[in-house]
Amino acid sequence: MVNIFNSRAKRPSHYAYAVVTGAASGIGRSFALELAKRGSAVVCADMNLPAAEETAAQIIESGGNAYPVHCDVGEATQVEQLAHQSESLLGHPVTLVINNAGVGLGGKFDELTLEDWKWCMDVNLWGVIHGCHYFVPGFKQQGGGAIINVASAASFTAAPEMSAYNVTKAGVRALSETLYAELRKDNIRVNVLCPTLVPTNIIKDGRIPARYSKLADNMLMNYAMTTSDAVAKLTLNRLDKGELYTTPQVDAKLFWLMKRAAPNLYADMLGLSYKFIG
Ligand SMILES: NC(=O)c1ccc[n+]([C@@H]2O[C@H](COP(=O)([O-])OP(=O)(O)OC[C@H]3O[C@@H](n4cnc5c(N)ncnc54)[C@H](O)[C@@H]3O)[C@@H](O)[C@H]2O)c1
Repeated sequence: MVNIFNSRAKRPSHYAYAVVTGAASGIGRSFALELAKRGSAVVCADMNLPAAEETAAQIIESGGNAYPVHCDVGEATQVEQLAHQSESLLGHPVTLVINNAGVGLGGKFDELTLEDWKWCMDVNLWGVIHGCHYFVPGFKQQGGGAIINVASAASFTAAPEMSAYNVTKAGVRALSETLYAELRKDNIRVNVLCPTLVPTNIIKDGRIPARYSKLADNMLMNYAMTTSDAVAKLTLNRLDKGELYTTPQVDAKLFWLMKRAAPNLYADMLGLSYKFIG
């Protein structure tokens, strides 16, 4: 088998054989479609198989190669199976994994049940840990690879009534930062995506309190400063450049700067604004 990491291909070799989790909707679907446009064969993994099949069908209709696979990323054994199955479907070891599958959870800290926490942690944090755990050894073996982990601006904004979601995304960012440094010598690139609002199904399909779920969905669908397609393109371009962070929108960049430049002031402003509007 040709080791593409030693070949002189013009296209960055990390695109060639990709796996995207949560590929049935939103940002994951956009990643899958954009990768196919860039010449990748794509495994479209999701726990919603019929919708993953739609993503794959769109790619195949445009002349690309795509394979829908059922996978619950919260279950370690299913992600292990995904890693094996992907290699046989693609006919080549995987070169890029995008750990994107995620769920939305909102509500005051004392309203959340431990079951809510577990659900959110299993998908948003363990899903990403499982993805890295089962794909990194293959990347090392073949001499290279790439990982995109989808976190969120929530990983640093720490907005009230999003405690569990914030914790999962901060974990994804910390894991990605660690792996970026640790895997560099193995020719494995890592990028972590940290957007604010992107119009997708995350609110509709999430566990969001009824008192503001309509408002939140309205903001997401009508006031986002970007689209899932634009986010996917930008993130792949950042990965090409070997960059660690993708913070697509101006508000994400601003929050990131404020939090780092004046952390106490930032926390006080957050608390004060929540006191008045919360
Ligand atoms: N939309 C936003 O505003 C926004 C902002 C920041 C970060 N994100 C992150 O982007 C990622 C993608 O979310 P989206 O906004 O496209 O939402 P989405 O709801 O449109 O898509 C999420 C996909 O993940 C799948 N999924 C959920 N649980 C799964 C599981 N256990 N196993 C496998 N697949 C599962 C869903 O079936 C769905 O296809 C998530 O990690 C989310 O936290 C979204």
